Amino acid sequence: MNNRNNIVILTGAGISAESGLATFRAADGLWEGHRVENVATPEAFVRDPALVHQFYDARRARLAEVAPNAAHLALTRLDVEWPGELLIVTQNVDDLHERAGAKRLLHMHGELNRGWCLRCNERFAWSGAMGDGAACPGCDTRGMVRPDIVWFGEMPYEMETIEAALMNADLFVSIGTSGAVYPAAGFVQTARYRGASTLEINLEPSQGSIFFDERRYGPAGVEVPKWVEELLG
Ligand code: OAD
Repeated sequence: MNNRNNIVILTGAGISAESGLATFRAADGLWEGHRVENVATPEAFVRDPALVHQFYDARRARLAEVAPNAAHLALTRLDVEWPGELLIVTQNVDDLHERAGAKRLLHMHGELNRGWCLRCNERFAWSGAMGDGAACPGCDTRGMVRPDIVWFGEMPYEMETIEAALMNADLFVSIGTSGAVYPAAGFVQTARYRGASTLEINLEPSQGSIFFDERRYGPAGVEVPKWVEELLG
């Protein structure tokens, strides 16, 4: 433990798959039936806000039907019990890490349960549908609220904090991510360059699998609890 004091964990859609949420890069290349550029870009929102809202409203509603799985719960156990520094950086916009009880958590791609008013620039907690001219709780303007989600072409959140944690990490662990989307896909190289050990837990080798010292392939709901037990045990 002494030489693995500071841990940074990156999670992606694969950690929520066993809860019943679809990953992004399924075999058909579509995300819940849509091309990503039609629902997850600022241009798509300008072109067809109703479609984008419909898409995210459906994803938000789906959250009520799913629950954290054994992988989320195991990371929470680690968060609670690990005496050193620990940061869970998730690319997921679902709320399953926090519903599992994780505290040392950052959402680098935003959250389904938050909104952002393009009129007054306020960001706020949000539940229910956002389409059909939702009003901003700050300035009361209707129809200017968008999901507080980082779309393609936009800057992920909390990058300074994440970079600092990576610089200081003794162990970097990537769970359930394909390694296809930067900057998250580059975290392993930053951590490695700074001397951290690196571990990948995924269903299959990710695009960056060669950068990991250790690789464990299998469902997150099995592999993550096993790894946490080894680490704490
Ligand atoms: P992807 O869908 O690209 O990758 C999910 C990964 O999880 C794949 O490598 C799967 O093999 C793996 N996987 C699937 N089921 C699993 C399971 N039960 N246990 C473990 N692994 C499993 O999702 P992300 O890498 O998260 O960005 O995608 C990154 C970003 O691209 C997302 O945050 C999103 C997307 O476009 C934005 O919306 C900005």
